[in-house]
Amino acid sequence: MSYLGPKVHIDLHQLKKNYQLVKNEVGEIPIMATVKANAYGHGAVKVSKALEEEGVRYLAVFTIDEGIELRDAGIKTDIFIYAKFDPTRIEEASKYNLTLNISSFDDLKALKAHNGNAVKVHLKIDTGMTRLGVPLEQAEAFLKEANQLNSIELEGLYSHFATADEGDLSYANSQLSKFNEVVKIAKKLDIYPTFIHCSNSGAILNVKESRFNMVRAGMLLYGAFPSDEVPQELPIKPVMTFTAPVVEIRDVKAGTHISYGGVYTTKSDTRIAVVQAGFADGVPRPWYIDGFVKFKDQNFKITGRICMDQLMIDIGSADIQYGDEVLIFGSNEHGSIDINHIAKKIDSTSYVLVTAIGIRPKRVY
Ligand SMILES: Cc1ncc(COP(=O)(O)O)c(C=O)c1O
Repeated sequence: MSYLGPKVHIDLHQLKKNYQLVKNEVGEIPIMATVKANAYGHGAVKVSKALEEEGVRYLAVFTIDEGIELRDAGIKTDIFIYAKFDPTRIEEASKYNLTLNISSFDDLKALKAHNGNAVKVHLKIDTGMTRLGVPLEQAEAFLKEANQLNSIELEGLYSHFATADEGDLSYANSQLSKFNEVVKIAKKLDIYPTFIHCSNSGAILNVKESRFNMVRAGMLLYGAFPSDEVPQELPIKPVMTFTAPVVEIRDVKAGTHISYGGVYTTKSDTRIAVVQAGFADGVPRPWYIDGFVKFKDQNFKITGRICMDQLMIDIGSADIQYGDEVLIFGSNEHGSIDINHIAKKIDSTSYVLVTAIGIRPKRVY
């Protein structure tokens, strides 16, 4: 059966190359690969299997359900759950060998009541993100209390940066010095977690002293830099390419309104192609203002507002036929459209754009 709709092409070879590049960058330090949110839209099972083949030390997802999906698909690698600990799901976490995020005294209290197999946990300290985690001032009491629990295996200690991908690293450095304090406290208490970690992609490139003995890489693996304020020497390349077919071509006169709101009017007689992909598929709606798609080596302006399922482009006299696939972002043999360029133009980020890819586009690996 032929398929006439949006496609997301995922280059697993490139994913593996990016992984090896990050691995070379961090040397012997093990990598926790972040595959939450369907591996940033790339497909969690396929991506996790590919990284498992490369020998990744840990995977990280957000929810227990995401972890179970990977286990059901046969993933054996350790899996960390970033989400707030849910005491009602300890048994499942233990059954599926998922490692839990423990980030409050209440979490410890709930774990005290657990008397099944010990669950693996990483303790989270908040050093300035102000999301999950115990503040530095309570870290000593938190570590002591956790260390006394028989129901857990205290495998990790970690924190998370708020600004590690920015040019001004003063806040990130203040977070790092707080985290160093926590590591000192752990030593003083004779607590030696196997994994101490706080580096995300930004910190891997920007705050090298924060690597400790594990790094949590996400965006770099998918081939995009977390911002344009980090060093860009690592030759990673995007894993995802988004395309969609032309499904209709029509001749229009000068002065024709196109799409919702009639905010775009043709300046001359031309041809308009309807492309079957819209904001429900992950084409960012605000992109219509400056946006374009590519066919072969030519760019074609998006005309008028992007609809839920379709968008229109001005193709003039170009040789484009029904069924031809245009490039929305990513790259093919003719060229590329950089997702970071789109993100910048619409005041968004590559994280938002890749995770916005809907369930409808067919993933091609
Ligand atoms: C706790 C935590 N660690 C690591 C990451 C990976 O971040 P990045 O994709 O910037 O490497 C994330 C992603 O948001 C996260 O929430």
